[in-house]
Order: sequence, then C-alpha cells, then structure tokens
Amino acid sequence: MLLELAQSKRILFFGGKGGVGKTTVSAATALAAANAGKSVLLVSTDPAHNLGHLFDRKIGSKPKKLSAGLDAMEMDPDETVKKHMAEVSNSLHRLMPINLRSEVDKHMKLSKDAPGMQEAAILERIAEVVEEGLKKYDLIVFDTAPSGHTARLMVLPEMMSAWTEGLIQRREKADKFAEIVRDMSGDSSVEDKVFGNDAQDSDKMRESGIRQILNRRRERFNNLRDQLADEDETSFVIVLAAERLPVLETIELEAQLQQANVKVDCLVVNKRSPKGEGSFLEERRSQEEAHITTLSKALPKIPRQDISLLAKDIVGLDALNGLVERISK
Ligand SMILES: Nc1ncnc2c1ncn2[C@@H]1O[C@H](COP(=O)(O)OP(=O)(O)O)[C@@H](O)[C@H]1O
Ligand SMILES: [Mg+2]
Repeated sequence: MLLELAQSKRILFFGGKGGVGKTTVSAATALAAANAGKSVLLVSTDPAHNLGHLFDRKIGSKPKKLSAGLDAMEMDPDETVKKHMAEVSNSLHRLMPINLRSEVDKHMKLSKDAPGMQEAAILERIAEVVEEGLKKYDLIVFDTAPSGHTARLMVLPEMMSAWTEGLIQRREKADKFAEIVRDMSGDSSVEDKVFGNDAQDSDKMRESGIRQILNRRRERFNNLRDQLADEDETSFVIVLAAERLPVLETIELEAQLQQANVKVDCLVVNKRSPKGEGSFLEERRSQEEAHITTLSKALPKIPRQDISLLAKDIVGLDALNGLVERISK
C-alpha cells in the first residue's frame, strides 16, 4: 500500500503520535520510491529532528543527497520563524501608518513566542517547499510532528489566506482613503505624511510592492490548501502502534483531517509483534488484534499496512533498505 502511494502520488504526509515510527516509515517509503527510480525529497517538519539520527549523518535545512534519487532536509524552526517574522513585520510596516511602526515592532516582539507562530512559520515554509519541490522532484515526503500539531497545520492554510485577504482589503481601503484626502486637499504630501515616503517606501513600492507580497502569500497558501485537498496528488498516512491510545488518537486525527479536507489513504500499524515467537508475543499479538478491530470498525475504508517489530533499531541506509524490502513484499 505504502509503495503504491509512493508510486502514484506527488506529496505524502506522515503523521501520528511520537515514537510510533513516523520518521522511520516515512524515510523507508521515500527510499523505496527513490530505489524505484523516482526523484524524492524527504522533509522533516518536526522541531525534534530525527532524520539526521536515522541516517546517522548531519542533515541541514537545505536538501542534501542521501542516496541515488533521494534528498532530505530538516526545517529549522528557529530560522523559519525568524524569516517569517521579518517578512510579516516588513509587510506590516508598509501597511501601517508611519507613527504606528514602533507599535508594530512591539507587537511582533511579543508575537515571536505566541502560540501558533511557529506553526504559521512552518506552514509558510511547507508551502514554499511544496511550490519549489514539485518543480524538481517527482515526490515530496513530509515527516511531520506528533498528531495535534499536524492537524492544526492542515487547517492553517485556510486561516492564513483569510488573514492575508483581510490585510489586502484593509490596505485597499486605506489607499482609497488616502486618495480622497489627497483629492480634497489637493496635496499629495498628506498621503506621505500618513504612510511615510522614505526612499525605500516610494509610492510605487507601496502600490505594487505590498500588494505583490500579500498576493504572493495569499496565492501560496491557496495553492497549499488546494494541493492538500487534491486527492489525486496528495495523501496523508497515519502511523500508529496497535495499542489503545494510539488507536483512539488515530481515529481523532482522521476526523480532524477530514474536516480540513485532507484524505487519509493508509494506516500503518507499526511494530506489530511477530508470529511464532513464543507465548508472550502471542498474547501481545492477540491484544493487538483487538485494538486493530476497533480501528477497522471506526475507519473501515482506509487500507492498512502492518509492519513487524524488528529485533534491532533502524539506523543508517542499509538498515533502512532492509525495511524497504519488508514493506515491498
Ligand atoms: N518496525 C520497527 N521495529 C523496531 N524498531 C522500530 C520500528 N519502527 C521504528 N522503530 C524504532 O522506534 C523508535 C522511534 O521511531 P521514529 O521513527 O523515530 O518515531 P517517530 O518519528 O514517530 O517519533 C526508533 O528508535 C526506531 O528505530
Ligand atoms: Mg520523528
């Protein structure tokens, strides 16, 4: 199932609780697609990066080649937030009257640590990576952060484009207002006094610049939203363990994703106790079956793929290729 998705889709998101095997399974799927001749970009959006640990080498915030056809990158949340804040504050500076600039700065300083800011920044980065990545790669695989976080990210494109839309409309109103004032007073400097007119902030910059930035951003979020909702190109895979809580959280996560118009196409039940390995594991297996029954009853239409618990940790390309063989069977 995983391989079919890797062969047929352009974007795969992997989500689920911490420790269930998102990083391992998403990397194995990316590697499988690369081995089959696709060019693949594997991206970690989890601030607790572990792609580097998995591949046992340093992976930075730019795509790095790991194997033939496979590049990987880890989004750096701090770097992403900084860049995002700089861009937002830049647009706000240009939007707001000059005497409010220090207020904008104060607000931005406070916002840096506000809840949601990191998600907004990561979302913008995801949108960028999707936009650029689709031009260069056949497939982009996202290894995401634990459940709640990811589901929130998926509804964000809608919110962010609404927010940007609001800014554009406010800006348009302000432009009209300035035009009226100028017409009434016959004095073009009134507008300059209100909105500032330093060299960088000439009328032209304001007129085309701000609108361009905001339009660009709106377009980017809209594209991401459309891309996420495009069932032919994008799939979400939930990774879980056959235990009570991960099963319940999976059912919840699927519902949240459905609301955000994102289709879950595969449930990977990882670390299944192997058969014929003694009575202890047999007992675990039958308990796992009970949890899997709950899962299948709640989500009967979503295909499932089980992956056996392996004797050893999965570290490095060879171990990962071993896992690729298993999921290819
Ligand atoms: N099928 C498996 N068998 C054995 N160990 C596994 C398996 N899948 C994952 N692991 C191990 O479980 C740990 C957590 O996996 P990881 O992929 O980092 O989870 P997540 O990204 O969901 O937090 C890692 O040490 C990994 O090697
Ligand atoms: Mg991980």
